[in-house]
Amino acid sequence: MDSNNNVTPFIQSKIGKNLHLQKGNPIGQMKKMIEEYFTQNHGFSVYDNLPPTVTTIQNFDDLLTPLDHVSRSPSDTYYISKTHLLRSHMTAHQTELIRSGATSFLMAGDVYRRDEVDATHYPVFHQIDGVKLWDSSVDSSVIMEDLKKSLGGMIQTIFGNVEMRWIDAYFPFTEPSLELEILFEGRWLEVLGCGQIQPAILSCCAKEGTTGWAFGIGLERLAMVLYDIPDIRLFWSDDERFLSQFSSGKPVKFKPFSKYPPCYKDITFWLPESGFHENDLNSIIREIAGDLVESVQKIDSFTHPKSGHISNCFRINYRHMSRSLTNTEVDSLQEQVRSELISKLGIVLR
Ligand code: DAH
Repeated sequence: MDSNNNVTPFIQSKIGKNLHLQKGNPIGQMKKMIEEYFTQNHGFSVYDNLPPTVTTIQNFDDLLTPLDHVSRSPSDTYYISKTHLLRSHMTAHQTELIRSGATSFLMAGDVYRRDEVDATHYPVFHQIDGVKLWDSSVDSSVIMEDLKKSLGGMIQTIFGNVEMRWIDAYFPFTEPSLELEILFEGRWLEVLGCGQIQPAILSCCAKEGTTGWAFGIGLERLAMVLYDIPDIRLFWSDDERFLSQFSSGKPVKFKPFSKYPPCYKDITFWLPESGFHENDLNSIIREIAGDLVESVQKIDSFTHPKSGHISNCFRINYRHMSRSLTNTEVDSLQEQVRSELISKLGIVLR
């Protein structure tokens, strides 16, 4: 195997699941609503079956991502080799589609990121990106107004009259860049990023005199808000008590079925001198516990006053979504976690 490959079997098993193409899954329904808005009112075309393996050029270079940007690091991204990776955003397909002649289009699919373990993060999730090209004689303010009107209209079509606000943002691929937040249960929640595409991107793939706007939306985030879904693992469940609630194809509020008891285990260890990244710990736990892990949280860190060695304590919360876990099961998971952290990361247990 390529020494740059950090795609684990758990991640590999998610490739091809395509929740965004499943009609009975809330992710599929979210995608369909956004797609209908842009195809019916605005004449967009849709690409929803692009394979998730792309090159570092597509995912980063073509989009002007700086060489030292964290998203390029193997602790954040799943690499297959030095040159190929599992896309970390749908924006990775923007340049090739513009080059092929598309002028207003959506790209929907699964994206992969190494990240925290909690109720709103999962290493595979789904995004829809959109692009609309314009003649560069059009004033930037007109383009940005059109972008805000289109996206604001889309959110209101789906959510009704929610309160929204635009926040200045930074993305390497757009200037100006904005984020849209919506007020949900008293909290401002970021739902999408967007902006005017950088001229240096378009000069490599579009015909001269082209500008345009682009956006990217996380489908899980929106679906959790629209349907009141409390845990991101539920989208992957084949539990009928989950899926049957969405079979009508109409937006409904999720009725939680009983939560089974959680069981947490703490693990305390000295960090290896060779370095330590939390995402490596997260991957190992995901690999062992799969969807039985609900969250991994650092609860304490301590530096030895004399030696300078650092000790961390992590709390791992285990919970099955459709039955109770037995003590024996949890103990066995935790034992595997302990021994793999020692053998793979070189930590020293305390
Ligand atoms: N790719 C960005 C992300 O994953 C989202 C995004 C922001 C897409 C701005 C865009 C854009 O096309 O213009 O966070």
